[in-house]
Amino acid sequence: MTNPKRVFSGVQPSGNLTIGNYIGAIRQWVERQQEFDACYCVVDAHAITVPYEPQTLQTKTREVAALYLAAGLSTDYATVFVQSHVPQHTELAWYLTCITSLGWLNRMTQFKDKSARLETEMIGAGLLNYPVLMAADILLYQTELVPVGDDQRQHIELARDIAQRFNATFGETFTIPAAMIPLEGARVMGLDTPTTKMSKSTTDSQYHAVYLLDEPDTVLKKFKRAVTDSLADIRFSADPERAGVNNLLTIFQALTHQNAEGVEAHFAGKGYGHLKTEVAEVVIETLRPIQQHYAELMAEGGYIDRVLAEGAAKAQVIATQTVADVKGRMGFLLPAL
Ligand code: TYM
Repeated sequence: MTNPKRVFSGVQPSGNLTIGNYIGAIRQWVERQQEFDACYCVVDAHAITVPYEPQTLQTKTREVAALYLAAGLSTDYATVFVQSHVPQHTELAWYLTCITSLGWLNRMTQFKDKSARLETEMIGAGLLNYPVLMAADILLYQTELVPVGDDQRQHIELARDIAQRFNATFGETFTIPAAMIPLEGARVMGLDTPTTKMSKSTTDSQYHAVYLLDEPDTVLKKFKRAVTDSLADIRFSADPERAGVNNLLTIFQALTHQNAEGVEAHFAGKGYGHLKTEVAEVVIETLRPIQQHYAELMAEGGYIDRVLAEGAAKAQVIATQTVADVKGRMGFLLPAL
């Protein structure tokens, strides 16, 4: 039997996890965990690249880890840990920074979007260098596949470019990773603004995102307020005018695992009120067991922290090996043993 493929992915503890994070990323980690040798990381060092609250970082980090497990990740298959517990992430990021061109970083659309929302004086160099840290996360584990939503595609292309440049300059060192993007639900849109991606860090409107820990009546209220259109026709569509209905159908399709024709047939002849309520119900039923499991995990004092300590110890073994190889290749004087 061939060795299982190495997989790496992560979520930033930068807000409340949304159904976008679940549908685009976490769900596929869980569904395919038995096939892979997987590392799932809470990428806390990424969450400090924009202004943030130091008082809530710890709580959010533990919460994200607990949600990974509550959603169904098992430590029997996956290594679950916190990025800052394995210092080789930031160490490798520096080495990779030195072979990454500024032009590559300036072309990153997420950097352009995020920096456009900040005063120039508040745009940290960390925000520009963020994709290099992400490349380090991936390359540190000799990752083959990176299961993510569509918004991370460009960052993974950059990780490939960095790996290729390193290998060409210093000799074969890194596995070249590939993105693994779900066919349905790779880009869940905001319920209030269906032409922009649903995001955990958008706090302008309480009707933008559905969070994994939202109560059922909150979920229902949010879906009832979801922006649609005046056509009263329930069909998938790429027309931006119809993005709201398309988004509701996409969420429904992703969570019920049906094909597009089946979903359209299911809603044929029904109204938008019905569509919203039914999508809300599917989401509520998806979240119910996750929320229950989350409450149990959090009630078990110290459990999450123990899982994270074990995960970091396992991750460290691979990370140490990779960084030693990288330093050797780059010509550093290694310390005497
Ligand atoms: P983050 O924290 O923004 O999102 C975590 C994961 O959720 C996916 N996602 C979505 N998918 C569908 N629809 C949406 N509306 C939606 N919003 C988010 C993201 O694509 C992602 O898979 N840079 C990354 C974190 C990261 C990482 C890594 C990922 C750091 N290092 C190494 C993979 C490998 C980020 O900000 O994700």
